[in-house]
Amino acid sequence: MTNEQYYELIKPYEDVTQLMLKRLEILNHSIYDHAIEEKPVHHMQYRIKEKRSIESKLERLGLTDSLINAKDNLMDIGGIRVICYFQSEIHELLASLKRQSDLIVIKEKDYMKNPKESGYRSYHIIFGVPLHTLDAMEYYPVEIQFRTLSMDFWSSLEHRICYKKERANKEELSKQLKTLSESLAMIEEEMRGYIEES
Ligand code: GTP
Ligand code: MG
Repeated sequence: MTNEQYYELIKPYEDVTQLMLKRLEILNHSIYDHAIEEKPVHHMQYRIKEKRSIESKLERLGLTDSLINAKDNLMDIGGIRVICYFQSEIHELLASLKRQSDLIVIKEKDYMKNPKESGYRSYHIIFGVPLHTLDAMEYYPVEIQFRTLSMDFWSSLEHRICYKKERANKEELSKQLKTLSESLAMIEEEMRGYIEES
């Protein structure tokens, strides 16, 4: 894939990702909880998949790196991470987005209810977002990963610890990381209890 082709490919994904960021910002201030003077979202991050990352994912899928293959097979070219305080806020945001009738849900995975073997917890959802151009409308996917602060803390550190590293004691390490993930879930639950009491 040439640089020109890459920039051509990502243009609409950049657009729909910006649209979804705006919708999330609107939800964030409309769900504002006056009782505790807090918004549900702690912060958001977004990224457009890099060229080499697109190429290596297509290669992993056994496909050539053509624009059409990228468009048909990659659902995470545009990605947003929404970091909330607690799980209840994630469910509130999700329910609200699902009520927006022009969005379609392409795929969702609840790794909060069913954590991955690694201990990874998060809620992944891919929305099809309508993009209107001069004479057409087309849906483009945006992947949103919802996490609480504690899930994001664990994932970010686990990524640093494990990413591309060959280790001798891999099995032991992954067991410990999984235990830490479970402990963090309990800490989060305990701290949430203090908020509800106050
Ligand atoms: P991909 O082909 O990688 O997109 O896999 P997939 O389509 O099965 O998606 P999945 O729902 O597993 O999510 C992949 C993304 O979730 C990754 O890009 C990471 O951001 C995150 N993720 C999934 N598993 C882990 C994990 O064990 N640790 C960390 N730190 N992040 C993870
Ligand atoms: Mg993915």
